[in-house]
Amino acid sequence: MQRNPEREKELAALEAVKYIKDGMTLGLGTGSTVYYAVRAIGEMVQQGLNIRGVATSAATQQQAISLGIPMTDTAHVTTIDLTIDGADEFDRNLDLVKGGGGALFKEKIIAAMSKEVIIIADASKKVDVLGEFKLPLEVVPFAANYVMQQVKMLNGNATLRQRDGQVFKTEQGNYIFDADFGLIQNAAALSAQLNNIEGLLVHGLFIQTAHKVIMGDGDGTVVFER
Ligand code: 5RP
Repeated sequence: MQRNPEREKELAALEAVKYIKDGMTLGLGTGSTVYYAVRAIGEMVQQGLNIRGVATSAATQQQAISLGIPMTDTAHVTTIDLTIDGADEFDRNLDLVKGGGGALFKEKIIAAMSKEVIIIADASKKVDVLGEFKLPLEVVPFAANYVMQQVKMLNGNATLRQRDGQVFKTEQGNYIFDADFGLIQNAAALSAQLNNIEGLLVHGLFIQTAHKVIMGDGDGTVVFER
């Protein structure tokens, strides 16, 4: 089958926004798939939908505001009804690798605050085993050498993310390491080990976070549920 990933992203996004109800506080993820969801939510707001959004990145915040979506932030909400976000990989347990766009810190906080998390993705994101996509780690610069060494001790090979010839900095002013652990056979165990490294603010494994993954698949969508 000739796949069109952009169409699959859009179809997944259009399916996900059907779960939005009036009055909800919505977490808005980051990335090229979420872009389509935010665009659809903007149209729904123009047609009278009453929601407020909480963004996981400055880019999403800017897009949402430009579309007239009322926005708030984590200082003003304690729970989020529904979050729609993307992923770099998902497996059959609906465990995820995220952080390709570097927004993983806010994405993890927003997901933790959410009653329901729906992940939207094109079909290329579905994998048998996580780990082909290098695992993003957000690292406080002061701890960079220490974290690099600790990642090596877990048989990981991390490289400091660069963009346009410069060291990439997150919205929190931290580094991203992209870490190759090979195929990750036990994602929960690796997640727990990474959680124990001081100075590693957050990692891109999202374990038991997604309630649903909606995947664009050719001309339709497939919904995976936990
Ligand atoms: C950003 C993310 C994104 O959700 C992930 O990278 C997927 O992005 P895209 O929809 O552009 O493929 O985790 O930090």
